[in-house]
Amino acid sequence: MQPRLGSFGSLEDGKDPLFRTGNQANRPLPLRLLQFFVLLLGIGIVFSFLSMYSSRHVHVQSVHPVVQTNIQPCIQEPMNIKDLIKPPFSLLHDMNDTVLFWRASLVPTIKDYPFRRIPKIAFMFLTRGPLPMAPLWERFFNGNEKLYSIYIHSLPSYEPDFLPSSAFYGKQIPSQVAEWGMMSMCDAERRLLANALLDISNEWFVLVSEACIPLQNFSIIHRYISRSRYSFIGAFDEPGPFGRGRYDDQMSPEINLTNWRKGSQWFEVNRKLAIDMVRDTTYYPKFEQFCRPACYVDEHYFPTMLSIESPHRLANRSLTWVDWSRGGAHPATFGKADITEKFFENMFGSEQCFYNNQPTALCFLFARKFAPNALDALLEHSSNFFGY
Ligand SMILES: *[C@@H]1O[C@H](CO)[C@@H](O)[C@H](O)[C@H]1NC(C)=O
Ligand SMILES: *[C@@H]1O[C@H](CO)[C@@H](O)[C@H](O)[C@H]1NC(C)=O
Ligand SMILES: *[C@@H]1O[C@H](CO)[C@@H](O)[C@H](O)[C@H]1NC(C)=O
Ligand SMILES: *[C@@H]1O[C@H](CO)[C@@H](O)[C@H](O)[C@H]1NC(C)=O
Repeated sequence: MQPRLGSFGSLEDGKDPLFRTGNQANRPLPLRLLQFFVLLLGIGIVFSFLSMYSSRHVHVQSVHPVVQTNIQPCIQEPMNIKDLIKPPFSLLHDMNDTVLFWRASLVPTIKDYPFRRIPKIAFMFLTRGPLPMAPLWERFFNGNEKLYSIYIHSLPSYEPDFLPSSAFYGKQIPSQVAEWGMMSMCDAERRLLANALLDISNEWFVLVSEACIPLQNFSIIHRYISRSRYSFIGAFDEPGPFGRGRYDDQMSPEINLTNWRKGSQWFEVNRKLAIDMVRDTTYYPKFEQFCRPACYVDEHYFPTMLSIESPHRLANRSLTWVDWSRGGAHPATFGKADITEKFFENMFGSEQCFYNNQPTALCFLFARKFAPNALDALLEHSSNFFGY
C-alpha cells in the first residue's frame, strides 16, 4: 500500500503549481477562461492516461503474475539440480486431470538419483470436508517433518480453516465431487496420487479417510512401510454375488473372470505402482463402462488392475483395520465409549499375517472408523495405546 499512497501524494502536490502559474489577475476575462479550459483539458488527459496505465498494470499483475516475472530482464540463474527436484511451491494449480496425469507420469529412466534423496511417505486424505482427527494426526506427525507430506482431497465447496501452524495448512489439492461406488471416487484417488507424484521425494503413498487414525508411532510406521517388499492393497478373489458376481463378461479380454479382485480402497502403494495407477488407460475404460452399481468400482478397479500388472508386488492385504462384524453395507463406527485399553488389545491381537513372507502379529498400522467424539479419549491415551 505504501508506494500507492506515495504516488497519490506526489500527484496532489503537482496540482497546485499548475493553478498558481502566471499572474492571472492582469489578463482579460476570455483569455483567462480559455487558459482555464486548456488547463482542465490537460489535467483530464493526464488523468485518463494515468488511469489507463494503472488499470492495465493492475490487470497484468493480478491475472498473469508468472508472465510478468518471466519478461523481467533480471539476471538468469544457471539451472541447478535444486530447481529440478524442488517440490511445487503451492499445491494449487489449474491443470486438469489430463494434463496433471500426464505430468505426474513422467519418470526418470536413470535409476540412481544424482542427489541425496530422503524418501517420504505421502499421506493422502480422501475426505468430504473437515478432518476431525487432525489433532491426533498432528501429534503423530510431530518431529518427522522431513519424512512425510500431506495431500487433502475434499468436496470442492469445502473451505478448510486450518491455522498456519497446522501440518494440514495449505495441503488442499484442486478437488472435484467424488461419490462412493462411482468412478469419480477412483478419479479422486488418482488425483491425489498424481498431485503427490509431483514431489519427487514421495516414495510411498498412503490413502486414508477423515475417520482413520494411526495405530503406531511414526518411526514404526515408516520402518514397516519402507522395508516392505510389497505394497499393501487388499486384493482377493471372492466367489459369490458380491465378488465375482460383479464381473461383466464385456470386460474381457483385458480383464477375465479369473483376474477379478476385490479389496478395500484404503491402500499403500510405492512410487512405481502409483505411476501405473495414474497412467492406466487399458483398464480404466472397461471399469468406467461395465462396473457401475451394484458393482462398486472403488472396491475392484485398483485391486484387479494391479493384480494383473504387478501381482508379485502386492501383499494382497490392507494396512487399515476395519470392523465388518456387525454386518450391513457399512463398517462399524467407534465413538467415545469404545475407546478403552481392551478395545485396542483386541484389535492388535485379532490377526496373524505375513510381512516379507514371515508371520507377524503386527498387521495393521491404521484403523477406521472413528467418530469425532472419540477424539478427546484418543488424545488422552495416545501415548499409552499407540506410542505417540
Ligand atoms: C485438459 O486440457 C488440455 C489442454 O488444455 C486439453 O487438451 C484437454 O482436452 C483437457 N482435458 C479435459 C478432460 O478437459
Ligand atoms: C515408537 O514405538 C516403539 C514401540 O512402541 C518404541 O520402542 C519407540 O521408542 C517409539 N519411537 C518414538 C520416536 O517414540
Ligand atoms: C483373458 O483371456 C484371453 C483368452 O484366453 C487371453 O488372451 C487374455 O490374455 C486374458 N487376459 C488377461 C488379463 O489375462
Ligand atoms: C498376491 O496375489 C497374487 C495373485 O493375485 C500372487 O501372485 C502374489 O504372490 C500374492 N502376494 C503375496 C505376498 O502372497
